[in-house]
Amino acid sequence: MRIRFRENGPLVVEMPVELVDHQGNPIPIPAGKEMVALCRCGASKNKPFCDGAHKSCGFLGTNPPPVPAPTPAG
Ligand code: FES
Repeated sequence: MRIRFRENGPLVVEMPVELVDHQGNPIPIPAGKEMVALCRCGASKNKPFCDGAHKSCGFLGTNPPPVPAPTPAG
């Protein structure tokens, strides 16, 4: 599986993937999709999916990914 961060936008998840809510209930994915865009700005009215609201809410997804902790020697 591959998850791609779009600049200042959603997380794009390539199929196949299964989405479930916090209780493990399936979240239906529209049929025929080859990927799904998950909101990371918090402004979508169709969560967990991106609805394009990131373009008008001022979201900046510019945080660099965290640096992995060094592995202990030995
Ligand atoms: S990332 Fe697109 S609406 Fe939130």
